Amino acid sequence: MQISKNISLKPYNTFGIDVLANHFVTVSSINELKTVLKLKDYPNKFVLGGGSNMLLTKNIEALVIHVNLKGISIISEDENTATIKVNAGENWHEFVLWSLKHDFGGLENLSLIPGNVGTAPIQNIGAYGVELKDSFVSCEGLCIETHKIKTFSKTDCDFGYRNSIFKQQEKGKYVIVSVTFKLSKKAHQLNINYGSIASQLELMNISNPTIQDVSKAVIAIRESKLPNPKDIGNSGSFFKNPIITKTHYLDLVNNFPEIPSYVISENEVKIPAGWLIEKAGFKGKCFGNYGVHKKQALVLVNYSDADGSNILKLSKLIQKTVKRLFNISIEAEVNIL
Ligand code: EPU
Repeated sequence: MQISKNISLKPYNTFGIDVLANHFVTVSSINELKTVLKLKDYPNKFVLGGGSNMLLTKNIEALVIHVNLKGISIISEDENTATIKVNAGENWHEFVLWSLKHDFGGLENLSLIPGNVGTAPIQNIGAYGVELKDSFVSCEGLCIETHKIKTFSKTDCDFGYRNSIFKQQEKGKYVIVSVTFKLSKKAHQLNINYGSIASQLELMNISNPTIQDVSKAVIAIRESKLPNPKDIGNSGSFFKNPIITKTHYLDLVNNFPEIPSYVISENEVKIPAGWLIEKAGFKGKCFGNYGVHKKQALVLVNYSDADGSNILKLSKLIQKTVKRLFNISIEAEVNIL
């Protein structure tokens, strides 16, 4: 375990923003993590997971702790299910592939989401009708103040749409060190009715899909719409899809009869932010080395060596324009630092 000075965080964030960490250390065990958290010489500490949900706008004047705890273990099994404990530093998609190799079902719709297992519960990652919470059992968090491990059940986490207690009252208080999932071993419940999964399977000539087939379909859809962070820096959806009142929605329908929507409750409707941003004229807009993705307006991109603060300015301009045109406030999904 070595503490380095002035390290570029470019390889550690999927946006590929080149800012410096004053000090940087990688921890590979809970004991190392505890030791680092206790270091008095570095009063400011910043915990970094997969770096897939953040926009860095300035140098980090702190000791950046890169959580790299590895390991996947089957902790119990019965006839129908397997309970798996995964350490926080495992790459999310590699874990999904591991589960599919073992024919464990439940995570196939969450294929190809960037980031690490430890950060997945913070925003309750979700895609194609499935969220992390659907297969989540519990997670362990190391308290930054007491250095004690606390287990959080699904109820404790209070999961919502891209939300959990780790974004609310417990924000910044715990480092998630492991996550436990319950996956199916047979009679897998397939979720293929969302978005274009069914048509993608048809295109692939698959009529009786397995969980592996669903994963392949999801990968094909994501690859066609979302930029791969290895090629173009990005953080997935930059904004959350806003929820508006039914009255507001009915008003908008008068002006924009084609507006897509999902009913959330009797009085609430969710609108795809991607549609609002596209309608506001930003889709595919390029501002030199950064811009809005040409195939999915919800994704802001760094084409080469963009400054995070310019991407932040663009996001504010988008918010202001969407507010002016539709009277809807769209909230950033990524953490801005
Ligand atoms: N749309 C447009 N223009 C665009 C993008 C979208 O008009 O540029 C409209 C279309 O009508 C489309 C609808 O929005 O049918 C929905 O688009 P899409 O299926 O791409 O989903 P989304 O609502 O834009 C959400 C998640 C994604 C997730 C997909 C699929 C949020 C903030 N985003 O996007 O999550 O992959 O659904 O389930 O909820 C992420 O969180 O990083 C992420 C990529």
